[in-house]
Amino acid sequence: MRTQVGIVGAGPAGLFLALLLQRAGIDCVVLEARSRDYVESRVRAGVLEQGTVDLMADLGVDARLRRECMIDEALDIRFSGKLIHLDLPGLSGDKLVHIYGQQEVVKDLIAANLARGVRVLFEAEATGIDDVAGNQPVIRFKHQGKDETLACDIVAGCDGFHGVCRSAIPADLLTIYDREFPFGWLGIMSESPPLPEMTYVNHDRGFALASRRSPHVSRLYVQCSLDDDVANWPDARIWDELHIRLGYTARTELKEGRIFQKGITPCRSFVAAPMRHGRLFLAGDACHIVPPTGAKGLNLAVADVRVLARALIEFFRGGNAGRLDRYSDTCLKRVWKVVRYSTYMTTLLHRPPEQTPFDREIQLAELDYVLNSRAAQTTIAENYVGLPFEDE
Ligand code: FAD
Ligand code: DHB
Repeated sequence: MRTQVGIVGAGPAGLFLALLLQRAGIDCVVLEARSRDYVESRVRAGVLEQGTVDLMADLGVDARLRRECMIDEALDIRFSGKLIHLDLPGLSGDKLVHIYGQQEVVKDLIAANLARGVRVLFEAEATGIDDVAGNQPVIRFKHQGKDETLACDIVAGCDGFHGVCRSAIPADLLTIYDREFPFGWLGIMSESPPLPEMTYVNHDRGFALASRRSPHVSRLYVQCSLDDDVANWPDARIWDELHIRLGYTARTELKEGRIFQKGITPCRSFVAAPMRHGRLFLAGDACHIVPPTGAKGLNLAVADVRVLARALIEFFRGGNAGRLDRYSDTCLKRVWKVVRYSTYMTTLLHRPPEQTPFDREIQLAELDYVLNSRAAQTTIAENYVGLPFEDE
C-alpha cells in the first residue's frame, strides 16, 4: 500500500487530521490498533474549547454535537467552605466551553471519515517505521494477522502516549521533560443528574470534580493514590468520598445513581521535543500529555493537527516546507502554556500525600487570593476556555 500521509492512530488527533487532509484532496490512510467498537466506547475527556468546536463546525461534523452537547458558562471551585464562582463569558470575553464526551467526538469523526472515503483500518497495529529520515518512510503494521507495509511521503504519529511513533525518533535527538504527580484520578460515569455547575473541590481529603455528560449522566472524579486500583473503590466508598469532599455530608446534593464505568488516570506532564524527525511528525498524546485538571489533553491534540494540516497542505500544493519546518516550534509554544496551566490547576487543587503544613497554607492562601482577585480569576478562565490560536 502507499499513500501521501500515513496516519498512525484513530484518536482525536489522527481523525481530525485525516478529515482536514481529505478536504484538501490529500490522500491519507489511518491505521488504528484497536477495533472500531473499542475506540468508540473508550471514556475519557469531555470539555471542548471553542477552537475545537469551531473546527468541528468548519469540517461539517458538528450536527450531533449541536443537538446533544451542553454549554458551560461557569466553573466553580470549592475550598474550606468557600465558593469561587468563575463566570466564563464575563471573564474571558464571551467565551464558554461545550461538554460533549470524547468518545462521541471520535464516533462522529470516524463516521465522517468513512463517509468521505478515507481509508481507516481498524485492528491495524503499527509495529515500526523505517527510513523516517529519508524521503519515503514505510510504516510496518499487522492487519488481520498479516504483516503489511504502508509507504508514505509523510508519517503523522498520532498514536497516543503508548504508541510506537515516538520511539522511531533516535533517543539522542529527543529531549524528554517529565513530571509525575504523586496521585491519580478515579473517574466514574453515573446515572445521576449533574450538579448545576462544573465543580472542582480542594478538600482536606483531596481533590474531587463533578462534571457531566448529559442531563441524566454525571462524570465524577476523586483524587486517589498513584498506584490505586479500581478494586479498592467499591461504589459505597466512592459516594462517601464525593459527598464529603463536595461538602454535603447530609448526602442530599448529589444523587447516587448506577455507576456504569470506573477507571483510574495517572496525573502526569510529559513533553518530548522536537515533535518532528525527518518525515515523521508527532501530534497529540504521542508527544505530550498533561494532568487532566483543566481538561486540556484532547484540545491540545486538536491544536497540533490544525497546525500540521495547514503545513502539509502548503507542502503538497506548492512544495513549500516552511511551515513544516516550523511545525514543532509553533506547537511547542502552545504546549508549554497548556502544561503550565494544567500544572497550576493540579497544584492548586490536589493534596499530595506528603504535603507539608507550609505548602498547605500556601495553597489555601492562593485559593483565597483567587476568590478575591478578578485578575487571578481571569487567568484561570481565559486558559480554561482555550487560549487563542497564534497562527503565523
Ligand atoms: P489517543 O486518543 O490516545 O489516540 C491514539 C490512538 O492511537 C488510539 O486510538 C490508540 O489505540 C492508537 N494506537 C496506539 N498505538 C498504536 C499503534 N501501534 N498502531 C496503531 N494505532 C495505535 N483529557 C482530558 O482533558 N480530560 C480527561 O478527563 C481525560 N481523561 C483521560 C483518561 C485516560 C485513561 C487517558 C489515557 C487520557 C485522558 N485524557 C483526558 C487525555 C485525552 O483523552 C487525550 O489527551 C486525547 O485522547 C489525545 O488524543 P490523541 O488522538 O493524541 O491520542
Ligand atoms: C472533565 C475532565 C477534566 O479533566 C476536567 O478538568 C473537567 C471535566 C470531564 O471529564 O468532564
